[in-house]
Amino acid sequence: MKVFVNKRIPEIGIHMLEDAGLEVFIPENENLSHDEWLSYCKSSDAILSVGGDYKYDKDFFDECPNIKAIALFSVGFDHVDIKEANQRNIPVGNTPDVLSKATSDVAFLLMQSVARRASYNFEKVKTGNWGSFDPLHALGQELYGKTLGVFGLGRIGFEMAKKAQKAFDMNIIYHNRHHNEEAENELNARYVSFDELIENSDVLSIHANFKPEQKELFNAEIFGKMKPNAIFVNTARGGFHHQKDLYEALTSGKIWGAGLDVTNPEPIYKDDPILELSNVCVLPHIGSATIEARNGMSKLAAENLIAFVKGEKMPHCANPDVYNN
Ligand code: DGY
Repeated sequence: MKVFVNKRIPEIGIHMLEDAGLEVFIPENENLSHDEWLSYCKSSDAILSVGGDYKYDKDFFDECPNIKAIALFSVGFDHVDIKEANQRNIPVGNTPDVLSKATSDVAFLLMQSVARRASYNFEKVKTGNWGSFDPLHALGQELYGKTLGVFGLGRIGFEMAKKAQKAFDMNIIYHNRHHNEEAENELNARYVSFDELIENSDVLSIHANFKPEQKELFNAEIFGKMKPNAIFVNTARGGFHHQKDLYEALTSGKIWGAGLDVTNPEPIYKDDPILELSNVCVLPHIGSATIEARNGMSKLAAENLIAFVKGEKMPHCANPDVYNN
């Protein structure tokens, strides 16, 4: 079976695939045009897909009838039309758990960076504007005893909530499709309605899987309901927030600051005015960018494909219903 890997990943997964007898193809030039990418997909049986640039939708599946399995090098699967994959009996693997700590670390980092205006102060240092001690300039806010609101309390949200509680004794509220009993028992997390979450969070952190119907859910209306001291953190998907509305909320004092590891659009334009703001910290989607997490993702992606080849269920499958067909 021929597996197309569109970008180099940590060796561990590649070795596992080769040891299992799979033919692995990684192009020399990883900056593929859409047509190049598509032609490699057409001549392969399975894809180990790295990054969110490529869409696996009806057109893709129609054009690549040979594809029998997709192993994503990500936990998110918003770039895959799961219904189409199910109809064609194509299992789609993903990489949960191994990146939960790393991604929540970035949410925690952004929360603190914004609370203490780290980007703004670093910029002052870099531009030779350290200045003299000023008791009133660029004051941050402390997080002790404040309320963290988690939108989507799954594995990553749980890790974020755990850290916030341990470090700052924060109260945890959350909104989900389902109750998270582990979080309620271990962290005393309280399930609230979406409106309560928005209105009561001092820090609002998004950790949900993105669905098309949630596009720009966090817009002017929602920012308008948040607390003026609130910090908005998005490490999930840029599509969750309306970026111009966020800019407006940040400049008009509707909210206090924002920490973004994901942007809308992504990558962010370098002249996006949000980058000029002193109450913002933006990172280039580095949530899972640790040696440990990326090795783990490489291993899980390989395990998913190897299971498929053996005729077994993928151990981490984004569309487990495919096995009921
Ligand atoms: C994920 O795993 O979904 C990360 O956001 C990287 O795409």
